[in-house]
Amino acid sequence: MRDAVLPIGVFDSGVGGLTVYRAINELLPNESLIYLGDTARVPYGTKSRETVIAYARACTGVLVDQGVKLVVVACNTASAFALETLQEELPVPVIGVVRPGAFAATVRSATGRIGVIGTPATISSGAYREAIETMRPDAQVFTQACPLFVPLAEEGWTDGEVPEAVAREYLANLRAHEVDTLVLGCTHYPMLSATIAHVMGPGVCLVDSAEETARVVRDTLEAMDLVCDDTGAPHLFLASDSPENFQKVGGRFLGRDINPVQWIDLGVCPKIPS
Ligand code: DGL
Repeated sequence: MRDAVLPIGVFDSGVGGLTVYRAINELLPNESLIYLGDTARVPYGTKSRETVIAYARACTGVLVDQGVKLVVVACNTASAFALETLQEELPVPVIGVVRPGAFAATVRSATGRIGVIGTPATISSGAYREAIETMRPDAQVFTQACPLFVPLAEEGWTDGEVPEAVAREYLANLRAHEVDTLVLGCTHYPMLSATIAHVMGPGVCLVDSAEETARVVRDTLEAMDLVCDDTGAPHLFLASDSPENFQKVGGRFLGRDINPVQWIDLGVCPKIPS
């Protein structure tokens, strides 16, 4: 029998999922969280379905070994490619970010003209399109891969001339289709939301799936009677590559210092001292 005091496991290809971690922590402050960033193998967004599934299996296996009561796949690419496999294989509930983001978009869009941006893998998977069209059959979905947004966000280069020029290029088609809602279908894109909002213009609602995902986590725990009431629950941060880099870049995503970060052996490279 699973226990309410057990931690929630949150997994992403790197630091981007910290936006989801933060939303869960804000909504469920008493929960203990283990965050695993697969920084040795990021980015996932340019890789094949098979590779992403293999990586996601390895990362979530580590979280299950740590005794988590629920797994959150806080990576859009891994959610798009690996969620069903993980839900079939893991002994705990697994929640992804695609369906919560799609749901928020269908509720918020007035016209049903919905844009989705994400990594090349997420966009080519068709996962957002399928989820949105299932939830709202009258929706018209327009998609665009924006791969350069990931390195820009990691560099902290989120506003000014260069990100704005990149955003204008990527978003031109979605603007031409007059979407009224735009799903930020990648963990990194909320870091660029001011620039994206500026380029899309007023009246376009940006959807970040982090908050909606946190609500799904809460509802799932409540339904299973697994909400933790203890305060002061510990948090643990794991990275498969340099903990120092994770601290530096992740701190920008989280807006605060992350300390300590432990190196986790995923069999990718020899031991990296923390
Ligand atoms: N976490 C990935 C996602 O949300 C973005 C970074 C990557 O390509 O791994 O799709």
